Amino acid sequence: MCGIFGIITNQDISIGKFALEGIKRLEYRGYDSCGIVALHDSQLFIKKDAGKIDEINERLKLSEFPSESKLALAHTRWATHGPPTKVNSHPHLDCSKKIAVIHNGILENFLELKEMLEREGHKFISDTDTEIIPHLIESYMKKGDDLIQAVVNAVNQCIGAYGVVICHADYPDIIIAVRKESPLVIGIEKGKTTYCASDIPAFLPYTRQCYILEDNEMAILKAGSVNFLNVLDPDMPIKKEIINIEWSIDAAEKGGYEHFMLKEIYEEPVALRRTMKIPRTNLQAFAKILWSAKNIYITAAGTSFYASLAGKHIITKFLGKYIHAIECSEFQTELDDALQEDSVIIAVSQSGETIDLIEAIRWAKEKLKKKITVLCITNVVGSSLTRYSDESIITQAGPEIGVAATKTYCTQVLTLALIALEIARYRKVITKQEIDKYYDALKSTADIIDNYLKNNVSNIKDIVNNLDKSSNFFYLARGISIATAKEGGLKLKEVACRFIEGYSAAHAKHGPISLVREGFPIIFIAPPDETYQRLVGNVMEFKARGGNIISVVVDSDKVITELSDRTIRIPQPANKYYNIISPITFIPALQLLSYYAALKHNLDPDQPLNLAKTVTVH
Ligand code: M6R
Repeated sequence: MCGIFGIITNQDISIGKFALEGIKRLEYRGYDSCGIVALHDSQLFIKKDAGKIDEINERLKLSEFPSESKLALAHTRWATHGPPTKVNSHPHLDCSKKIAVIHNGILENFLELKEMLEREGHKFISDTDTEIIPHLIESYMKKGDDLIQAVVNAVNQCIGAYGVVICHADYPDIIIAVRKESPLVIGIEKGKTTYCASDIPAFLPYTRQCYILEDNEMAILKAGSVNFLNVLDPDMPIKKEIINIEWSIDAAEKGGYEHFMLKEIYEEPVALRRTMKIPRTNLQAFAKILWSAKNIYITAAGTSFYASLAGKHIITKFLGKYIHAIECSEFQTELDDALQEDSVIIAVSQSGETIDLIEAIRWAKEKLKKKITVLCITNVVGSSLTRYSDESIITQAGPEIGVAATKTYCTQVLTLALIALEIARYRKVITKQEIDKYYDALKSTADIIDNYLKNNVSNIKDIVNNLDKSSNFFYLARGISIATAKEGGLKLKEVACRFIEGYSAAHAKHGPISLVREGFPIIFIAPPDETYQRLVGNVMEFKARGGNIISVVVDSDKVITELSDRTIRIPQPANKYYNIISPITFIPALQLLSYYAALKHNLDPDQPLNLAKTVTVH
């Protein structure tokens, strides 16, 4: 969850400025403390503290390091072991204060290693697991290893997940980066500067050429070049392909919007248009496998799980087989005695690094000795999830920086719907003309959202003002829209810190309705699909008990509009082909509602309390 950045150069540049900018671009990964180390004249210069990067920069002038320095490591932290304090922030050092380490991940055997190192006389000052690493390297160097060999031996002794970056005061010409389960990428400006980072946007303003480090690989960075070795077999040659990143840097920066979250909501139409261009061969490969599968599971976490719930409805409609949706953290527990050979798992993840999902997939593959097929849908090329999957589709949302997932949700649902249509083509359950109409409906999602964002958003702020005093909400829906209710609710919880229950409107009568009093806000998700008539009844039930009814409806809606105190109107045609698209077209309004509610309560929507963009701890 932490952000890691390293730079080594032979150019005359301000190393501190680059390091600071690097971690600023990674701040979405964790933001409770940060630190930078720069090396000059066999000495490490360190600035670190608890707090957000800008606050610390004000106090410590994070870009100011010796001007001749050519090497720096920088870290932004999301606390796991030990509270966010200065002493727990990275980098961490060994006893000699020559080895500096930054780390993303968790070392499971750190207590054991700590005791062993303490017996050797090492002194620890922090509560972190990371501090083990520099001491372990120091221990191997004392036994005669050079730096690279010592790092190989040290990481091979660590159990757990790590993206680790190391520098040594006596080795000014190299940075060492190693990964196991936590992402690390290497950027290169040939002959000049080499970068490493936990995510590509950190170095994207300087280079588009990058390598993706795989598990157990080590990168030895020199100014303008890099070598790789496998820490499990250092003599085995490694051939890696350089990747050319095509995103614009603008896509990874705020581009004039006040927050990434707002920018990313407004990017939804573009993201959807790009997603419509996913090669058909890719979609067909998924469709074929699903068509012949015995059992199908779909699994994910958070927003990706709610996208999966919507996608599951659409696929089931055309596939005619039930798909089991299971949160990835419960996957193993639920299926320990039930997972069968020849099942297919669809794994959905924006980052492709969510540890519970990766573990679920690894567990399933190991349990069934690989007699299982994993299909993944992710937004990140080369992410861990793609490596554990038999087939991958990359959603085309572009980099998503805001901690709250927005545009990636839309592209995930669209991708699943496109797969569903390919299944319909195979099964011939509907005519070609009907498939074309469904396809046109999916294609229209970008224009509908564009139109909504340009013309219909003005009442969102009024609704936010109207709900200002409320801290509890229901988001209610039926059928496929339960996914929308849950995802809309998750956004409000995350960024506006309001308690909301996203629930089935029918099921809400079996308990939750007892909370409703005069003015209790209930947001009904009411597209004109087969659930509409019954939802009218539910709206009446909640209205009769004094609920403040806000409904999300299509432009032409009349009945629920009449019953509601306020409506959010989506410019969408009301016909059966458009029924499958409401999970995509209705969500931007709810995302905006959460965004403006966060601003109303003086909360930073890009950095919600206690969260991180990618959850790499169990
Ligand atoms: O990267 P992933 O899609 O696997 O992440 C899953 C969840 O952690 C993520 O969706 C989380 O719920 C977001 N904060 C939602 O806005």
